[in-house]
Amino acid sequence: MIEIIPAILEPTLEAIQEKVQRIQPYTQRVQLDVMDGAFVPNQSFCQPAPLAELDIQIEVHLMIEKPSLFISQWALPNVFRLIVHYEAMGNVANEIALLRQTGKEVAIALNPETSTYEIKEHLPDIDMVLIMGVEPGFQGQAFQRDVLEKVKEIKKWEPTMKVAVDGGVTIENARYIMAAGTDVLVVGSAIWKSDN
Ligand code: DX5
Repeated sequence: MIEIIPAILEPTLEAIQEKVQRIQPYTQRVQLDVMDGAFVPNQSFCQPAPLAELDIQIEVHLMIEKPSLFISQWALPNVFRLIVHYEAMGNVANEIALLRQTGKEVAIALNPETSTYEIKEHLPDIDMVLIMGVEPGFQGQAFQRDVLEKVKEIKKWEPTMKVAVDGGVTIENARYIMAAGTDVLVVGSAIWKSDN
């Protein structure tokens, strides 16, 4: 069963609240893109505390430098999954252990250029791999189809590992992204810009 999780990338709490209201009739889970303007060349709303008031379950996609320094702040009651980027991690095993201590699901994101071999040894210790279909930072970018080889690699190594694809997912490419074995589609502009 494929899950579609809408991605919210906004600079203000009001804009986040507005998108949550729009999506609530259709899903109880959203991804919140958190960008610090350092790990990625864009800045989004970055204050965790007010988000605990949102009446929706959130997976927090931390596109920030040194994520382990901020994990406890983001482990809010309505956060079900924490996603950190391999490229921003220091000691991967230690930081996975820190993430585990929050009791939330743990996911590692890989940018398009990052090999799956970087996290192969850590797969038994995490709940999901997030395969980026674009360079993180902005919505509306074109999907880099070659990242699907990485979905297949993860599934070959760990067939039960949950794999998400995030960035550039559309109605047109969703079918072949799912055919590669993807379990979760993270979708931004294809939802927010649709007239439906
Ligand atoms: C990319 C973000 C994605 C983005 C997806 O920087 O990590 O989650 O919001 O938006 P679309 O689907 O428009 O690429």
